[in-house]
Amino acid sequence: MFDMHRMVDTTSCQWLHLLLLGLLWFKTQGVYVPITYVPSAVARGAVCLDGSPPAYHWDRGYGTGINSWLIQLEGGGWCNNVTSCLVRKNTHLGSSKRMVKRIPFSGILNNKHQFNPDFYNWNRVKVRYCDGSSFTGDVAAVNPVTNLHFRGARVWLAVMEDLLAKGMRNAENAVLSGCSAGGLASILHCDSFRALLPMGTKVKCLSDAGYFINAMDVSGGHYIEAFFNQLVATHGSAKNLLPSCTSRMRPGLCFFPEYMAQQIQTPLFIINAAYDSWQIRNILAPGIADPHGYWESCKLDIKNCLPSQIKTMQDFRLQFLVALLRLGKSSSRGMFIDSCYAHCQTEMQGLWLMPDSPLLNKTSIAKAVGDWFYDRNPFQKIDCAYPCNPTCHNRIYEQPAHHYPNF
Ligand SMILES: *[C@@H]1O[C@H](CO)[C@@H](O)[C@H](O)[C@H]1NC(C)=O
Ligand SMILES: *[C@@H]1O[C@H](CO)[C@@H](O)[C@H](O)[C@H]1NC(C)=O
Repeated sequence: MFDMHRMVDTTSCQWLHLLLLGLLWFKTQGVYVPITYVPSAVARGAVCLDGSPPAYHWDRGYGTGINSWLIQLEGGGWCNNVTSCLVRKNTHLGSSKRMVKRIPFSGILNNKHQFNPDFYNWNRVKVRYCDGSSFTGDVAAVNPVTNLHFRGARVWLAVMEDLLAKGMRNAENAVLSGCSAGGLASILHCDSFRALLPMGTKVKCLSDAGYFINAMDVSGGHYIEAFFNQLVATHGSAKNLLPSCTSRMRPGLCFFPEYMAQQIQTPLFIINAAYDSWQIRNILAPGIADPHGYWESCKLDIKNCLPSQIKTMQDFRLQFLVALLRLGKSSSRGMFIDSCYAHCQTEMQGLWLMPDSPLLNKTSIAKAVGDWFYDRNPFQKIDCAYPCNPTCHNRIYEQPAHHYPNF
């Protein structure tokens, strides 16, 4: 009888544990937020690759956050030529017809104070990415055979105007944010976002995993530079990049933050892993530069890397830091450069703010960003080299990198 009781006890304990874990998971997932299409954009030619209307998800602000706006630009790589844009056109990254209707808001988008203390009650908007050019493209002509629309810059403006009309024009506080291709877009559009808002609005920009560097790949080639050149040519992006950069160098280079971000006037916070896993997989060791697949297993899990590969990655980190230094000093800038094998750290609750989330200077990303936005404390911190930071959640991939970067 005694044993029987113990057994029942243990079982119910496990149940309770599971239940609590489930509740925690449910809570950290945050709310599901429905999609809003912008059909009026179509008449202006502000459309996704396939000609469908742009879209975003908006969770309204309340209480003290009612007049504050956080705009999070979705990421998802780029398409650099007609072939890769045709592949993308029939996915959620090229058509609003393919997008899911509700997405969970977590991390910087979370609506709970406990998980997102500085932005939880703001108007939080996730702008869907369906143009393949980090919102920079603008080609008037549409080829009737491919029916591809290169209109990212028009999408940007149409969505911003829609949000201004929905109350963003009265914003007291505003943040333009984004991850990956969206993090790059938040750098590229930072000052134009500032210009859309009243002088009195406190405006800052945040780039998560958007600091892509012009590094050589492991075969000694310039894969990413060629890729960005093709991208800018295909999408007609040059006229929408920073004129202070395009007046000095080839437009393709003006897609790299290291050549253009020093010109930005609006305060900017850069969150990036110095061993950004997307950059390691697609800039340092893209498949084309590694035909024998020596890098495959290392790219899946940093624990699999050989000492020689770690050495190459340490060199990559140094190049990353040199590229970052090209920004010059600014007291308004924020920096959280950790030494994790990671990509995008603001929208995952476990990386943004949880008891075991990554720390620099004992500070979570959520706290560093909040302190910087509200001028409580500037934060500019670069981590020591891998594997020095025990708080990292190093990413483990199941699949090799896709042939077309970042699907
Ligand atoms: C690191 O933390 C200490 C104390 O918590 C603080 O005084 C210092 O300003 C922080 N450094 C940075 C770069 O934020
Ligand atoms: C288009 O770009 C992809 C890389 O995204 C490359 O593999 C392919 O060869 C390119 N196609 C053409 C026709 O240039």
